Amino acid sequence: DKGGWSSFMAKEVSEEPEAVANTLRGRIRGGEVVIPELDGLDELFQGISRIIVIACGTAAYAGQVGKYAIEQWTRIPVDVELAHEFRYRDPVIGPDTLVVSISQSGETMDTLMAVKYAREHGARTLSICNTQGATIPRESDAIVYTHAGPEVAVASTKAFVAQITALYLMGLHIARVRGAIDHESAAAHIAELEAVPGKIALILEREQPRIEQFAGWMADTRSVLFLGRHVGFPIALEGALKLKELAYIHAEGFAAGELKHGPIALIEPGQPVFVVVPSPSQSPEMHKKVVSSIEEIRARGARVISIAEEGDAAVLPKSDEVLRIPMAGPLFEPLLAVVPLHIFAMGLATAKGLDVDQPRNLAKSVTVE
Ligand code: F6R
Repeated sequence: DKGGWSSFMAKEVSEEPEAVANTLRGRIRGGEVVIPELDGLDELFQGISRIIVIACGTAAYAGQVGKYAIEQWTRIPVDVELAHEFRYRDPVIGPDTLVVSISQSGETMDTLMAVKYAREHGARTLSICNTQGATIPRESDAIVYTHAGPEVAVASTKAFVAQITALYLMGLHIARVRGAIDHESAAAHIAELEAVPGKIALILEREQPRIEQFAGWMADTRSVLFLGRHVGFPIALEGALKLKELAYIHAEGFAAGELKHGPIALIEPGQPVFVVVPSPSQSPEMHKKVVSSIEEIRARGARVISIAEEGDAAVLPKSDEVLRIPMAGPLFEPLLAVVPLHIFAMGLATAKGLDVDQPRNLAKSVTVE
């Protein structure tokens, strides 16, 4: 039931605040993460020296965001691998490896086969999944469910923010079990997480109509580029994927620092480029770098659409359009910055008269390899 929305996707984007809130619910107590599903696994978490995240598509981008936080908090090296690449290269894994799979459906065949492979080769497995009782969690040593609720539209939206939330909870839990961070820092990160649903709601309320209108003006666009740095990089990749799959527009995401190593050759007058801009107060150094990337592409005629913090005065004169997000700590920005990109891809596809719930050639759950 679309509940009065024009599409399941519109409904599911509107549910992004709840997806985060429900994934946090019951898992925080007194400034600590409490995940009943992970009770009794302290020894497992103490014994690992590597984490490999495996997933496909949007779930893999959630994994890439999670990598930054999990490494920072646990000091355990984290690799993110596409599930379908993982088992074809004889990966180095063993009992000290925790393989974390991420899957909304819990049925993606590539991810399932990678989890089975990891288990057979002695790794420990943890599944982040949105579907109770699905196959992938049944094949894993531990499960952390995302509580985004059923996702019907083929393109994943609310599950993505729930996956990042679950990864962050898992990361904080492992960090505390190993004594890698103290109570105060964990509590501060948890407070940031708890503020996310309200901030996403603000973006939907203040920016959605404007972004949809703006997307409508761009209906004839042939190609769109997305730039980001640090946690903004996987968000750029996610913005590009959504635009490809929903609006059938050629789109590419790049790490902003990579521009001068090739992609800047693509910039010609009028080329639309979305730039995920880090907070000037929270990440001043990275903010400066991204603003200088904006200057470089703008000097070559790019049409710059910045996704930037409300108070960021520096990007305003340098952008053709600014999509505003509330302030958040560096690791929590991706949970906000992705929302305008989901709205934009949906808005552009809708303006082109496309079915956003059922894009051509795609299935919600990819149960073949
Ligand atoms: C993109 C999208 C896909 C899925 C991918 C993994 O919008 O929905 O890229 O994220 O097929 O699916 P799950 O999470 O079910 O394993």
